[in-house]
Amino acid sequence: MAKTLIFNWKLNPATQKQAEALLGVYQKTVSKNCEIVISPPFEHLWFLNAKKPVLGLGFCAQDCFWENLGPYTGAVSALNLKLSGIDYVILGHSEKRIHLGETDAMVNKKILNAIGSGLKPVVCFGEDLKTHAKGEDVVKKFIKKQLTGALKGLNSYSLSQKNSIIVAYEPVWAISNNSGNVADSPADAAKIIEFIKDLLVSNFGFQVPRVLYGGSVNRKNIKSFLSFDQINGFLVGRASLDREEIQTIVRECGAKP
Ligand code: 13P
Repeated sequence: MAKTLIFNWKLNPATQKQAEALLGVYQKTVSKNCEIVISPPFEHLWFLNAKKPVLGLGFCAQDCFWENLGPYTGAVSALNLKLSGIDYVILGHSEKRIHLGETDAMVNKKILNAIGSGLKPVVCFGEDLKTHAKGEDVVKKFIKKQLTGALKGLNSYSLSQKNSIIVAYEPVWAISNNSGNVADSPADAAKIIEFIKDLLVSNFGFQVPRVLYGGSVNRKNIKSFLSFDQINGFLVGRASLDREEIQTIVRECGAKP
């Protein structure tokens, strides 16, 4: 299966001109051998999405709400994102959980609205440093609890809607801002990803789960992650803003059969 690469720009870059220049880097980097998706902040997303089309470059929002219409100041409609030609949405990112108090119950409502509206959610799960320090069994328990809360009520959705959900394992402690750009060990990440995939199949009825790794992925460590076939792709933060990083990550992923 071709790797999926989702480049999360977070709240970057500062200006529309810089965003346009960054889009240009991606337009020149598209690859037939992997799926490339960019996730600019909303203020750039609308503008850049209108500048398409470049075949092979997908667009992803960084959030959506659990309703598509009504008295919800500041909310973004999943349906409107879909109608604007955006296919993906990141949900449950640890930065939203930490800074905006997002809970598994809120993530759950957003996921259900996203898939009901035709968007493909990229849902983030992962343990914090304190949990990580307690060892693998505690980490697995923590992740199982997150998944159970966030993926509730999926049974009434079709298999294709379920399979449209991409899961990202993003250990919070390994995100570049928290770790000083030090990633999880690829073998450990692959082990947790295998555990997540088993749960998705046995407890949630997924058929072909797609699970990405996120946390300090960069041009220096991408090759070592690629030697683990359990990892279906990557959710990239900091490196998504740098031309050399982008080009190397895409090239390495494309070279992997
Ligand atoms: P970094 O690649 O900067 O660690 O960010 C990961 C992330 O949070 C992507 O969503």
